Amino acid sequence: MRRRRSLIDLDGLSSEDLHDIFARSAAIERGTSGAGIAGAACVNLFFEPSTRTFTSFNLAELRLGAHVVNLAPRELSYMNKGESIEDTMITLSAMGVCVVVVRHPQEGFPASLAEHFDGHVVNAGDGMHAHPTQALLDLYTMLGEFGSLDGRRVLIIGDILHSRVAHSAMLGLRTLGAEVVLAGPDALVPSAYAGDGIRVERDLDVALDGANAVMLLRIQRERFAGMPMDLEEYVRRYRLDAARLHRAAPEAIVMHPGPYNRGVELDESILRLPGWRYAQQVMHGVGVRMAVLDFLVNG
Ligand code: NCD
Repeated sequence: MRRRRSLIDLDGLSSEDLHDIFARSAAIERGTSGAGIAGAACVNLFFEPSTRTFTSFNLAELRLGAHVVNLAPRELSYMNKGESIEDTMITLSAMGVCVVVVRHPQEGFPASLAEHFDGHVVNAGDGMHAHPTQALLDLYTMLGEFGSLDGRRVLIIGDILHSRVAHSAMLGLRTLGAEVVLAGPDALVPSAYAGDGIRVERDLDVALDGANAVMLLRIQRERFAGMPMDLEEYVRRYRLDAARLHRAAPEAIVMHPGPYNRGVELDESILRLPGWRYAQQVMHGVGVRMAVLDFLVNG
């Protein structure tokens, strides 16, 4: 079987690959890109709820001229007629499907699809493992701000352990030469994350020192069950507000992949800051996903 290129995480992409994708994203946003995958069949397979990622993949595919099929999991024979996911992929290959975009609660699911599919698999989030297109649009947002990430300090606050967004972002940030600081309690940010170019801080004020960009993550209340720290203490120690952000570099930007919880990981004052970049991140999501599809399909 011919194996086409898939995007499972950012570890397979060099700094040149990342800049290639960002140059395509910029041309797409300027309207000077001729990129297209006209007539290519794209199947979107989302086993978890999604607003931003699902909609932006759909728009990206449509704007590239693809034929788009959204397959709800309950309609899959694999889910209710005993067909294996391998056979489902063989079926989609035989139909000439070019791209499968997949989100699934189980780590490794997109990679296993790619083994049985004669097309491109794009991981739209698998369990706690990876969410490469979110990381790409976050990196693209930061590059738009700073030109280069080399030597820039990026602070990620919160539940790193369970966050596929943080895991992919860390890979991309290191590839582009950024310094990464992780802040949160031990149960959510194990010390083992510390390593080459990555520092772990327990004190948010220390972690904020000199940060050029701050990435927030959604905090899930259920993660605090059985944890030494309760949600109230977490909020007191790690919630970001405008006053605390003063410790960061001047003109630091604040990002969040969404959906965000007001009053939990961020205070309402963050939403009014000039450095709040949530809308830009969402806006870049479509162009960056178009660039990824062009990069994978057209090479
Ligand atoms: C994230 C996800 O689903 O991984 N959201 C997103 O894709 N924009 C983050 C989250 O749900 O917390």
